[in-house]
Amino acid sequence: MNDKKNNNILVVDDEATIREILQRTLESEGYQCGTAADASEAITIIDSSEVDLVLSDIMMPGKSGVELLRDIRKKSPDTAVIMVTAVADTQTAINAMKQGASDYVTKPFNLVEVMLSVDRALEKKSLILANREYRLKLEEKVQQQTEEIRLTFLGAVKALAEALEAKDPYTNGHSIRVTELAVTLARESGLSTDEQEQIRLAGLVHDIGKIGVPEEILHKPDRLTEQEFDFIKEHPGIGERILRPIISDPVVLAIVRHHHEQFAGGGYPEGLAGEDIPMGSRLMGVADAYDAMTSSRPYRNAMHPDKAKSQLLANRGSQFDPEVVDLFMSLDDKKMPFCPISAAPGRKPG
Ligand SMILES: [Fe+2]
Repeated sequence: MNDKKNNNILVVDDEATIREILQRTLESEGYQCGTAADASEAITIIDSSEVDLVLSDIMMPGKSGVELLRDIRKKSPDTAVIMVTAVADTQTAINAMKQGASDYVTKPFNLVEVMLSVDRALEKKSLILANREYRLKLEEKVQQQTEEIRLTFLGAVKALAEALEAKDPYTNGHSIRVTELAVTLARESGLSTDEQEQIRLAGLVHDIGKIGVPEEILHKPDRLTEQEFDFIKEHPGIGERILRPIISDPVVLAIVRHHHEQFAGGGYPEGLAGEDIPMGSRLMGVADAYDAMTSSRPYRNAMHPDKAKSQLLANRGSQFDPEVVDLFMSLDDKKMPFCPISAAPGRKPG
């Protein structure tokens, strides 16, 4: 129930006697009650204080009660309005209800009926407000939970990628470093935050398909035979198939599938070229190659960053998107992402 003392009611009528009767009755019922002699005085009061309900005459000198109703709907949509009308003018009152009035009472009025109408209108108003507050809280909660689910999911995906890399000290932390670098490139190239998030997710799991490549090939200390390399070429496709049931975003899946395509064609798995390769894959291609070159491998030491950069330049336009290489070269040291595993055995520059 409403606490009547908290409800402010404004009586608007050009007849002083009616204002007084209504004010006295409403106050005796426990409401706070003010009065106005016409629409413009009423608007001044509504502009300067909180009014929960307006009880307004329709026929008044100056603006009519219906015009006042329109002003109130614009200025203070939560204020309830009850129209007071002569019996002969009920059609106008009904039209006013169509424009948002809560109810109407006819003159000469029965005070018990007026009080019932006021109680009903305020009850309805407080239900609407409570409902709105409930909906807002619910939306906030749904947003919070969606974010929690997203973070839990990302955490699980990261754990899966880390578990894969942990088996091999040479690739330990590779996916996280590639992700940070690719997201930095995405941000610097002006991609939206949604696109950056797609690249982040794809980066963390881009090599997950290596789960399907025999370990003796993955960890082979010598150069790979052509047949063994064919196995390696399967990993982007295997990765996409593993992720399809848990990642519904086709952009993320495409970035994973095409992260070994080459700008001039001839990469794998599909030999796409140029802008047919998803943008995220082109960014990841540069990030992936740079991190691989500056990490030790069973068959070679880590390359010095300057040498790795010259390799990127040497393959600018053939293996790598030239614009992405240029962007990478333009990153100053401050923009290079923090590398959390820089002390790992695979990070000794040689
Ligand atoms: Fe890969």
